Amino acid sequence: MAITGVLRPGHSQMRVLNLEESVNFYTNVIGLVETGRDASGRVYFKCHDERDHHSFIIREAERPGMDFYGFKVLDDATLDKLESDLRAYGMATERIPAGELLETGERVRFTASTGHVFELYAQKSDVGDGLGYTNPDVIIEGRKGISPLRLDHWQIHGSDLDGTRDLFVNVLGFSVVERVLCEDGKTDMGVWLSCSTKAHDIAFIRDERDDTLHHTSFLLETWDHVLRAADILSKHKAKIDIGPLRHGITRGTTVYFFDPSGNRVETFCGGYAYYPDMRPYTWTWDEIGTGVFYHTRELNERFLTMVT
Ligand SMILES: [Fe+2]
Repeated sequence: MAITGVLRPGHSQMRVLNLEESVNFYTNVIGLVETGRDASGRVYFKCHDERDHHSFIIREAERPGMDFYGFKVLDDATLDKLESDLRAYGMATERIPAGELLETGERVRFTASTGHVFELYAQKSDVGDGLGYTNPDVIIEGRKGISPLRLDHWQIHGSDLDGTRDLFVNVLGFSVVERVLCEDGKTDMGVWLSCSTKAHDIAFIRDERDDTLHHTSFLLETWDHVLRAADILSKHKAKIDIGPLRHGITRGTTVYFFDPSGNRVETFCGGYAYYPDMRPYTWTWDEIGTGVFYHTRELNERFLTMVT
């Protein structure tokens, strides 16, 4: 086994302004699969190719944004180890009891210096992808809407980028895969971090607006699926932010759009395979436009300013 420690983004809980309008959007436009509702009114979803019970939770609230970001770790021993490592680093941690989220074991929660609430967990019920574990077929029936394969990554914004980057690298074992430098040529403006062989599992951008979300990203199979996603979004009159297009950073192809509450979502594909022996790519301040939007080589104002 080569991948240990933190495995992947496992779930997040998003605030939405109107629950049933959002359930309709995430079910019929994005094409997530509803897997449960709990006593507090939260609705749970998974992507069609994910096996764990859920990867995306919504709850009705007065303002949009994200309550917390959860990473799945290898096993209970890893959870205990990372909890003690976080404490040794000086982080306060809290154990959330098993079952507080449906079909999920104990979670270790902590708040980063950027204000974002993160949690680690090792156990979540395997509900499968519908193909079974013996001689599985290759076609998953009943896919709707954009129908992403899985939750892929988040981009979040906050002021203490250095502190949160160091926490993720030095305690949680993430690697810096790409970085964008500030005008001074030294300070990180943004970092793209991986805990796996993906080009990124999370991205942090330096921004005075702490505890903010830029986007949640779901993975698609091909560039054709990115184009089709944009077609589906337009058909449903969803608000597209920008795309389809290609990033210089990670080389992913993408379309960005807003859910009915104003939360930005991305459906994307591509990006190269990352291994921990690879040196990070660095983007300089004068080429940041190329890094973000490879073809136009210019940033757009809404992409920079809108966060939830
Ligand atoms: Fe992204």
